[in-house]
Amino acid sequence: MCGIVGYIGEKNIKKILLHGLEELEYRGYDSAGFAILSHNELSSFKSVGKIQNLIEKTKYFETQGFGVGIGHTRWATHGKPTEINAHPHSGEFSSVVHNGIIENYAELKTMLQKKGYHFLSQTDTEVIIHLFEDNLKEQKDPLKAFEKTINSCKGAYAILLVTKIMPDKVFYAKNGSPLIIGKGEEGIYFASSDSPLVGLAKEVCYLEDGKIGVLGIEDFYTLPSIQPLNINKSFAQKEGFRYFMEKEIYEQHRVLLETLMGRIQTDTQQITLENIDDSFLEGIKSITICACGTSYHAAMVGKYLLERMAKIRVNIAIASEFRYAGFVMDKEELFISISQSGETADTLEALKLAKKHQQKTLAICNVENSSIVRESDHTILTRAGIEKGVASTKAFASQVLVLWLFALFFAQQRKTLEKKDIAQEISFMFAAIKATQVNNKMHERIKKLSKRYLHGHGFFFIGRDIFYPLALEGALKLKEISYLHAEGYPSGEMKHGPIALADSNLFTIALMPEHLLFEKIKSNVEELSARDATICAISPKECESADDMIYIPKAQSYMEEFFSMMVVLQVLALEIAIKLGNDVDMPRNLAKSVTVE
Ligand code: G6P
Repeated sequence: MCGIVGYIGEKNIKKILLHGLEELEYRGYDSAGFAILSHNELSSFKSVGKIQNLIEKTKYFETQGFGVGIGHTRWATHGKPTEINAHPHSGEFSSVVHNGIIENYAELKTMLQKKGYHFLSQTDTEVIIHLFEDNLKEQKDPLKAFEKTINSCKGAYAILLVTKIMPDKVFYAKNGSPLIIGKGEEGIYFASSDSPLVGLAKEVCYLEDGKIGVLGIEDFYTLPSIQPLNINKSFAQKEGFRYFMEKEIYEQHRVLLETLMGRIQTDTQQITLENIDDSFLEGIKSITICACGTSYHAAMVGKYLLERMAKIRVNIAIASEFRYAGFVMDKEELFISISQSGETADTLEALKLAKKHQQKTLAICNVENSSIVRESDHTILTRAGIEKGVASTKAFASQVLVLWLFALFFAQQRKTLEKKDIAQEISFMFAAIKATQVNNKMHERIKKLSKRYLHGHGFFFIGRDIFYPLALEGALKLKEISYLHAEGYPSGEMKHGPIALADSNLFTIALMPEHLLFEKIKSNVEELSARDATICAISPKECESADDMIYIPKAQSYMEEFFSMMVVLQVLALEIAIKLGNDVDMPRNLAKSVTVE
C-alpha cells in the first residue's frame, strides 16, 4: 500500500525522506520518489523498484540548509508501476504526493485537458497538481486555492503538496487515509503511519478526516490534540496489534472500500471494471477459474455467484491439478486466475496453458507488476495492499468482493439480472463491507471461547452453498496457524462418511446463515449433535442443539452474513493459535508466495 513522508527543517532533507521511505517498505510498494524545495529550487526524483534504486539515482543530489520535502512509496492501483506514474507528480511550480483514490479524477482530467493542461501519467493523482495550479490563477491565496482543489476531489486521500508560491510550507489534506504530523528537535515530519516517525518525532498529531491546511516550521502547536509518541518500531508497523494477521483482519473494512472505489457508479447503479469492455466478454460461453490455497476457496465462491447471477457455466480448478489433467479447453471459455501474490508457480503455469489454447485470460490479483498480471490479457486488481501474515485474510476478502463485482458486471452485460436487482446487490455490498468491521465484543467473546477449543481430535467446519467454501477457508485458517486438524465439508455430505468420526471430542463449527438454507443446515447440525459432537454455531439465529453460539448481527443478505462469518472464523483461528503459543505470522512449513511446483 502506498506510503507518504514529508519534512520541514534544516537537516539533510534527502536523507530524512529516504529514511522515512525505507521505514515504509514493510507496507509493500513498486516505485518511489521524492521532491525537495529548497532555495526556491524544486527538484523531483522517482524510480521503479526498490528504494535502493532511488538512493542510487540521487547519490549526487544534495541540498544545503532549510527546505521542505515530500516523498512517496507507490503500490500501483491506477496505471502501471512505471517511473512516470510514480509520485511526486509535478506541475509548473508545485509537486504532490497522494495516498488513496480520487474517484472523480476522470471528469476533472477532461476539464483540465480542455483548458490545455498536459497530462504525463495514467494516475488519478496528477489531477490534483494541475487543478491546484489552475485554481491559483483565480485565487491568489494559496491555502484557499488548495482548499478549493481538495473540495473538488471525491474519494479517500492523504495528500502533501509543496509549491514555490509558499516555499517554506507544506500543504496537507486528509480524508479516509491516515496522515500524521510530528515534531522533533530537528523539524516537522509528516507520515502516513507511525513507523517513519519513531526515533525522530517526540510529539504527534493524528489528523482527523476532513482536515485541510498548510504548515510552516513554527506552526506545529496550532494543530489540535497533540500527544507524545512513545512506541517502538515493530509496534508501529503492526499499528498496535499483536500480529500482522490481526492487523490485516482489522483493516479489511478499509481495504474493501478501496477494492470498490471507482467500480460502482452510484448515480446509474452500474458496475464498471477498468479495462474490461463488452468486446472482451463477447462470445464467452463458459468460465474456468483456477487458483491455489485460499485463492481457490475464493474461486469456489465465484462459481456460485457467477452461475447464480450471470447464468454462465463455471468450472473451478486447483492449479496444480489443472496443469497435467489435460482438461478440455474451449476457445469460447474465459480463463480466470486468482492469486494474491501473482507469482504462484502452479497458477502461472495453468494460465500459460490456457493461453496456449487461445483462451481469453483475466487475472484477479493483488500485485500489479506480478508475473500473472503481465501474462494475462486483463486484470482486476484486488487492492488489498501488502499482506504480511502468511495466512491470507484481507486478500481473500478482496478476492470475494471482486468476484461478486465481476458476477454483477457480467450479469449486467448478459442481462440476466434486472436493473433493480443489481441496485439491490449494490446496497447489499455496502452492508457486507460494513459487516467486516471487527466488533470488540465479538472479539472478546471468541478470545474466551477459544480456550475450550484447544484440544480434541479434530475440527469439522460445515456449511452449504457459498458457506461451504467459507467452511473450507475457516478450516484452512485454523490448520495453517494452529496446526490442529481441521476439515471443511458441505454440511449435507457429513452423513455420507465423516459423521462416523462424531463424538464429544470432535468439534464442529457450523456456519448457519439465516438467508440461505438455514433449516437444511440445522438438520445436519442436529444429526451431529445426536452423536455427541461438540458444536459451535455461528449464526444470527439461535440454534438449540449447539453447545456454543457465536452470534453475528442480523443481516439483509446472505453475502453480508458471509463477510460477518469470515471475520469470526479468522478471529477464531487467530485466538486458538495465540493460545497454543504459535507464531501466527510465520507458521511452520508455509511460505507466503510459492514460486516452485
Ligand atoms: C501459499 C500461501 C497461501 C495462498 C496460496 C496461493 O500456499 O501460503 O496462503 O493462498 O499460496 O497464493 P496466491 O498468492 O496465488 O494467492
